[in-house]
Amino acid sequence: MARERRLYVCQGCGAVHARWAGRCDACGSWNSLAEETPAGAGRRDRARGGRRLELVALAGRTEPPPRLVTGIGELDRVLGGGLVRGSVVLIGGDPGIGKSTLVLQALAGLAATGPRTVYVSGEESVAQIQLRARRLGLADAPVELAATTEVEAVVDTLAADPPAVLAVDSVQTAMVEGIEAAPGTVSQIRAAADLLVRFAKRREVAVLLVGHVTKEGQIAGPRVLEHMVDTVLYFEGERGHQYRLLRAVKNRFGATHELGVFEMRDRGLVPVDDPSALFLGDRRGRVAGSCVFAGIEGTRPVLVEVQALVSPSVLATPRRTVVGWDAGRLAMVLAVLETRCGLPLAGRDVYLNVAGGLRIQEPAADLAVAAALVSALHGTPLPPECVVFGEVGLAGEVRPVAMTEARLAEAARLGFERAVLPRTPRLPATPLEPVPVRRLVELVRFLAGDARPRGRALP
Ligand code: TYD
Ligand code: MG
Repeated sequence: MARERRLYVCQGCGAVHARWAGRCDACGSWNSLAEETPAGAGRRDRARGGRRLELVALAGRTEPPPRLVTGIGELDRVLGGGLVRGSVVLIGGDPGIGKSTLVLQALAGLAATGPRTVYVSGEESVAQIQLRARRLGLADAPVELAATTEVEAVVDTLAADPPAVLAVDSVQTAMVEGIEAAPGTVSQIRAAADLLVRFAKRREVAVLLVGHVTKEGQIAGPRVLEHMVDTVLYFEGERGHQYRLLRAVKNRFGATHELGVFEMRDRGLVPVDDPSALFLGDRRGRVAGSCVFAGIEGTRPVLVEVQALVSPSVLATPRRTVVGWDAGRLAMVLAVLETRCGLPLAGRDVYLNVAGGLRIQEPAADLAVAAALVSALHGTPLPPECVVFGEVGLAGEVRPVAMTEARLAEAARLGFERAVLPRTPRLPATPLEPVPVRRLVELVRFLAGDARPRGRALP
């Protein structure tokens, strides 16, 4: 018998090493290598010439995959129209954010329409899950439960009569026999996921995997899983907010960066159909430094308030604090305002916040951030009922962005009357009064001319 080969796997990045070392070459983390015995190593049988594959034409049948609709609109949309049979979906998020709740609600929603669903938890007992279901008003849902960490047992039990959907909560508690590593290590997580992915493909089961994110942002393990699964959803939220945002970061069966919005209530997660109203809900009249950005999240327009505070700094290096946006992007907008528009921002502390816990990722927010900064600097509120969007370039130019029509339509729906936007040859028809700008300096002039100073202007 061949001697068993030992491998050392980095628990941070998943890199495989032949020898143990104190530091992983791939990601540089210390003390992160753990020993692993590769499953089924050296068992390949080349003598028989291997298995023959059947090749098919590219131009074959092209039916869209049938979807399992959970009935939770926000989840179905983020998935691209529901769960796909034979696909594996990873739902990552901080502990306590509501992953188990979402999964249980999704299974109950599905089971109510007929398909067989199984929920396996390695974290809670059957009684605890039943208690949660009762609290969610789902006590009568025909979902089958098991409390175990043994993935092989789950797969063996379900192989003969596979359900439509299997949820495993969580992948950190999953255990595969024969892997000499503790649950939650990369080796165990990968082995468990491998087993479940093969089960999903072979039996045409949609598998939902729940994964916890650790404090450092690495979903210990799940990061390693991202390339093994078909779809990766992140469930996020701010402490103190009851909103929960579900985002697709990878989706083989739909669009990425689609956003689902939920509210955590005492009876579970409730989809929010009108996120703009939610994010603008706490806005207080005309305040200097506040600007409404007409953004796009995935395929849907979302209006959100950008807040800025600019104050004289006592520090040699002024403070720049950003929540909900990219710090590098803020530095760029500040530099362009300073250099191209002559605004004195260098010696000032700048705080930028996207209200409501949303994280904006599009460059289209540049112009709204600039407007909030100028407004904060001059102590002058923006004209009321005005939305802003557009990308800013280093030369101080304002560039067109995608989906102008959808942004304007959403702003009109919520009662806004004006839009500051990039100047383009053709503007879509809109009930809003457009304020097209080609250069950032035109925005500065617009803000200075239209809005009368209320607060005290900084010298
Ligand atoms: P949970 O789904 O257990 O989170 P995760 O699986 O991501 O760790 O949700 C836990 C939190 O949600 C818990 O702090 C209580 C809260 N919660 C509600 O507010 N309402 C509810 O109906 C439920 C079931 C939980
Ligand atoms: Mg949980």
